Order: sequence, then structure tokens, then C-alpha cells
Amino acid sequence: MNPTRDRAWDTLTRYTKSESLLRHALAVEASTRFYARKFEEDEELWGVAALLHDFEYEIHPTLDKHPQDGAPILREEGYPEEVVETVLSHAEHLALPRDTLLKKTLFACDELSGFVHACGLVRPTGLEGLEPKSVKKKLKQPSFAAGVHRDEVYAGAEGLGLELDDHIRNVVEAMQPIAPELGLRTADSAA
Ligand SMILES: [Fe+2]
Ligand SMILES: [Fe+2]
Repeated sequence: MNPTRDRAWDTLTRYTKSESLLRHALAVEASTRFYARKFEEDEELWGVAALLHDFEYEIHPTLDKHPQDGAPILREEGYPEEVVETVLSHAEHLALPRDTLLKKTLFACDELSGFVHACGLVRPTGLEGLEPKSVKKKLKQPSFAAGVHRDEVYAGAEGLGLELDDHIRNVVEAMQPIAPELGLRTADSAA
């Protein structure tokens, strides 16, 4: 099958109803697609892997099932092995090698997109004007977005060979165009 965005969206929304999980998928997709363009890679395929990385979290919310029990479902639906393996590789507990640029990128975008999203939600102008400095300050506050694994944020940037500031700037820029879909205010909506 041709792993298009439409197919991935269809799969995702069959398994995921929660708005916050759908927003997470969209945020990670936007960040991963941003890097696909930057690295001149296959944006559609990268976006598909990102959209699907947590597609079955709602039915498999524990680490003994997620994401490994999602893999047979993706294979059954006909997704190429590159997508299946990339999805599996985002999970730290599976300790799979991140041996492609796509795997490194998905891992780097997963936790940071969630964290940037959380930063945007508490600002009157959402992501607009959100600087790496203030994101990094919040990373040092353990109580803020406590579910985000800081070590994975740092390891993700390092895996891509990026300074954390640059990675944050990229993810903020990537998510900005879909701010309304992510439930984030914009300067316009705040006015
Ligand atoms: Fe996950
Ligand atoms: Fe995720």
C-alpha cells in the first residue's frame, strides 16, 4: 500500500479518539515534517511515521503493550516495514537502534513537541515569541509538564547533532502554522 497521510490519519483516528492524543500526533507530525524538508527527505513518509507513532496508545496505554503490540496492526494494515520499525524505535524501553535519520528525528521530536506544546498553552500568545531560553528554563522546573522526560529531550537533540536551542527553535517554528489545531492561542486570538 501507499503510505499516504490520508491513510495514516484514517488509521490514527480509528484507534485514537482523545483530543490530546490527536493533538500530540499532529504536533509531532509537524515537527518531523519540518525536518524532512530541512534534510530533503520524503516528507509524506516521515509524516506518516510521526502521525502513527502513538496511534494505539489509547488501547495500549502501558509499556508492556505500547508500542510493540501496535506493530502487528500496522503490518496488517500494510504499512511498510520502515514505518513499523520507526514507530517501534521511539520507545526507550525497547532499546532498539535509532539507525536512520528518520528514527533519530522522530525520537527528537516526540518529547520536545509535547513540551513546547505545554509551554505554548500557558502563554497568552501561544507559540509566538516563545524563545529557546524560556523553554530551557521550564525544562529545569520538574513540576512543569512533569510527564515529559527531560533526558529524552536532551538525548534527542544530541542524536540529531543539534544544539538544543536550534532544535527548540525548529520545533516552535514547525508547530506555529498549526497552532489553532493544537488548541493554542495566537497573537490574533489574544487581541
Ligand atoms: Fe509512545
Ligand atoms: Fe509520543
